[in-house]
Amino acid sequence: PAAGRDRAGALTFKPIPPNKLDNLVVPNGYDTAVVMRWGDPVLPGAPALDVARQSADRQSRQFGFNNDFVGVLPLGRDGNRALLVVNHEYTNEELMFPGFTTLEAMTVGQIETAMAAHGLSVVELERVGHTGQWRPVRGKRLPYNRRITALRTPFAFTGPAAGSTWLRTAADPKGTTAIGTLNNCSGGVTPWGTVLSGEENFNQYFVGGDQAPAELKPKLARYGISTTARYPGGSRRWERAQERFDLAKHPNEAHRFGWVVEVDPSDPRSTPRKHTALGRLKHEGANVIVAKSGHVVAYMGDDERFDYLYKFVSKKRYLPGDRRHNLTLLESGTLYVAKVTGDSPAAEIDGTGKLPSDGAFDGTGRWIKLVSGDRSYVPGMTAAEVLTFTRLAGDAVQATKMDRPEDVQPSPRTGKIYAAMTNNSNRAVGGNPGVDEANPRANNKHGHIFELVEDGGDHTGESFTWSLPIVCGDPADASTYFGGYDKSAVSPISCPDNVAFDSAGNLWISTDGNALGSNDGLFATAIEGPERGHLRQFLTVPLGAETCGPFITGDDRSVFTAVQHPGEISGATLEKPASTWPDGDFAKPAVVVTWRLDGGPVGS
Ligand code: FEO
Ligand code: CA
Ligand code: CA
Ligand code: CA
Repeated sequence: PAAGRDRAGALTFKPIPPNKLDNLVVPNGYDTAVVMRWGDPVLPGAPALDVARQSADRQSRQFGFNNDFVGVLPLGRDGNRALLVVNHEYTNEELMFPGFTTLEAMTVGQIETAMAAHGLSVVELERVGHTGQWRPVRGKRLPYNRRITALRTPFAFTGPAAGSTWLRTAADPKGTTAIGTLNNCSGGVTPWGTVLSGEENFNQYFVGGDQAPAELKPKLARYGISTTARYPGGSRRWERAQERFDLAKHPNEAHRFGWVVEVDPSDPRSTPRKHTALGRLKHEGANVIVAKSGHVVAYMGDDERFDYLYKFVSKKRYLPGDRRHNLTLLESGTLYVAKVTGDSPAAEIDGTGKLPSDGAFDGTGRWIKLVSGDRSYVPGMTAAEVLTFTRLAGDAVQATKMDRPEDVQPSPRTGKIYAAMTNNSNRAVGGNPGVDEANPRANNKHGHIFELVEDGGDHTGESFTWSLPIVCGDPADASTYFGGYDKSAVSPISCPDNVAFDSAGNLWISTDGNALGSNDGLFATAIEGPERGHLRQFLTVPLGAETCGPFITGDDRSVFTAVQHPGEISGATLEKPASTWPDGDFAKPAVVVTWRLDGGPVGS
C-alpha cells in the first residue's frame, strides 16, 4: 500500500524525492495544513498580523517567529484537545520589518517587537472531525494560551547555582530571577507533562564583552561572546532597548542565559524556571526518561563544533501521579559529561568515512561526573562555577569533542539514546582536532547519528556502548553508512538536527542545512531489526527553511513539524521574499500538521 504501517510498526510509505520546491511536500495518501503561523493570534483579542502596524504589544499576544521545538500535550481524556507548546528561537528582521536596512538602524520599538517574537507559545488545539488534523481553538476564553517572551517574562532560577555571585546583577541583586528566555531551540516533553526548552546561541544578543572584567573574559569567550570587539559582527544591538544586554555595564547578564528552561503549560500563571543543575551550555534541548530506579535522566547536547554530550540524573525519584513532587525533579541531581572511546585501531579511522575492519564505528564510553548536588568533582571549580561555566568543566575533564551535538533523545521503546551530530566543517581541518571513531569524517559536511546504549539498560549508570547507525550524505557516496541496509534503497540525508520517535519506535530525523543542495526535510527509519537504516524521506519544507519539531502524537495519527525560517536566503527581504510560503504573499514560519487521509498511523 502507498500508505500504512503494518501491525509490527514497519514503515511502508513511498519516499518523496529531494526537491527545490517552495512548498511543503508530503507522500501520496497524506495531507497537511498550517496549524499556527507567525503573527497568528494566541491570546484572546490579539490582532491578526499586519506587518505595517506590528508592535511589541501586538507581537506579545501573537505567535512568535521562527518556531523550533514542538510539543503536543493531551488535554483532557477524549483525545480531541491538546496544548501545543512551541519555541521561538530567533528573528529574521529582514523578513519581518518593512523597509529593513540594518540591525543598527532599527528603532527601539522594532527591537522590542523582535524581543516579543522570541520565547515560547502555548496554544490550545482541537482535533478536526475524526481526522489527524488539528487546529487552534478560537474564542474569548482560552485559559491555557500563553506567550512567554524575551521582553518581559520573569523566570526563576533553581538548583545549586541559583543566587550565586555569577548570576547577580543590578536589577536582580539576589541572582534568583531572570527576565526572558533567548534562542530557545529544541526541547522535550517530560513524563509529568511539562516542557523543557534549551537556550542555545544566547551569545549573539550581547555587546560590550570587550569591556567586561578581565577575569570574566575567558568565561565569556568560551561561550562565543567577543571579548575584543564592542559590537561583534551580527550583534542584534538589543542593548539599545534594554541596557542589560551591554556587558560593559552588566557583565553577569550573559550568565543568566544558556540554561534548560521548564515550562508548565497546564498552569498559565506558573513562573517558568531555569534549572541550573542541568548546566549551562548552548543547550540544544533536553529529553527525559525515567530510569528503572525511578530517577529521571535528562540527555542533552551542546550545539557547537567540538562540544560535548551531557546527562543529568535526578536526586529524587519520579512518583507517578504526584505532579507537585515531580515538578522539583530537575532542581537537584548529578551532571555528567560523555567521554567516548572507539574499539578499532586509530590508524583505521582515516577521515574518509571508510568503515574500520570490525565493520562498525563503535566502542565504549564513560559518563564523567562533574557535579552532584552542591559538590563539585572538577578540581579548582566550585559546584556553582561548574554549573555556570559547564563548558570549562568539560574541557577540564577532557570530555570527547563531538561534531555539534544537537537533539539527544531516548527511544521510549528501547531506552537507547539517539543524538544528532549535525556536521562539523572544521573536523581535522587546520589546527582543529582530528577524527576519532565517534566523529570519523574530516570536514564532516553531512553529519551522523550517534546511538548510545547504557550498560545494563541503566540510565543512571556511568558506562555505555555506542555506535553510528547512520553516517549521512548521498548514499552513492562511499563515506555514508545506513545501518548496513542496501544503500540503493535509501533517501539522501544531510545535517540531521532533531530526532523523534513514533510509538512503534521508528526514528524520525529532521534536517537543518542540507549540504546536498535540496530543501531540508523529515525522514523516518526503523532502528531495530532488518530494516535498520532503511531511511526514507517523508516530507520536505519550502525554500530556505529548516525542518524543526518533529513531534508524533501518542496515537500516531499526526506528525507536527515546525517550518523554521522559510525564505532565509541571502538578499531576501519582506518586500522581495525568496519564499512566499505558506500564504502566497511573504514567508512566515509556521507549525504544520501532517496526517494520513485514511486516518491510519503516520509514518507509513
Ligand atoms: Fe538551534 Fe542547534 O539548532
Ligand atoms: Ca569499531
Ligand atoms: Ca536545532
Ligand atoms: Ca526531539
